[in-house]
Amino acid sequence: MARKFFVGGNWKCNGTTEEVKKIVTTLNEAEVPSEDVVEVVVSPPFVFLPFVKSLLRPDFHVAAQNCWVRKGGAFTGEVSAEMLVNLGIPWVILGHSERRALLNESNEFVGDKVAYALSQGLKVIACIGETLEQRESGSTMAVVAAQTKAIAEKVTNWDNVVLAYEPVWAIGTGKVATPAQAQEVHCELRKWVHDNVGAEVAAKVRIIYGGSVNGANCKELAGQPDVDGFLVGGASLKPEFVDIIKSAT
Ligand code: G3H
Repeated sequence: MARKFFVGGNWKCNGTTEEVKKIVTTLNEAEVPSEDVVEVVVSPPFVFLPFVKSLLRPDFHVAAQNCWVRKGGAFTGEVSAEMLVNLGIPWVILGHSERRALLNESNEFVGDKVAYALSQGLKVIACIGETLEQRESGSTMAVVAAQTKAIAEKVTNWDNVVLAYEPVWAIGTGKVATPAQAQEVHCELRKWVHDNVGAEVAAKVRIIYGGSVNGANCKELAGQPDVDGFLVGGASLKPEFVDIIKSAT
């Protein structure tokens, strides 16, 4: 079963109004494969979401970088899933390793967030991945499986979930996983989904790779059978993001 290639651009905590306009202009002028071939989603900081949505070409979509775990209310500084839906934001990134590490988001908390966001009608890019220490101690799959299990326990419908495998040691370091390393984890992860969720979900769910993806290394990674796209950080702020989108074909 063909899985549509997915390219996400996570702008993280970057950008001014002028820089955001420049990035969107580059994207809007780019000649890329059609929406039937590649799904493109960019994720600006919250404050720029409506602005980017209003300027961005209609075949590209936007994602928030986080949302609150439950219905909104007295939660100072948080943004609820309901608000994103109200603004017409279709996607949200949840469980990014930076939030897991810096803001102590646990597997269970991320699982709750994913379930709540889905229940409100958002589509979710759910991030998982091991640290260097975990990889070196041989526990990559155990870590990734535990992170996925915490999501799987709370999710019944996987249609609106994309899994982003992002080894922490590859994020922002320039140390990209080799195509073989990425394929190995993606394949194992799909097998885990097959055995613990079901064959149909395993065949359909997109597993994308994130961690130092750039215009030069994307093509070979994209050629791996279980790599269904990318979640791009640093390079999503640069014109080479267009080359990454083009690696879909
Ligand atoms: O969400 C994106 C990842 O953290 C990857 O970031 O491409 O800058 O390594 P990076």
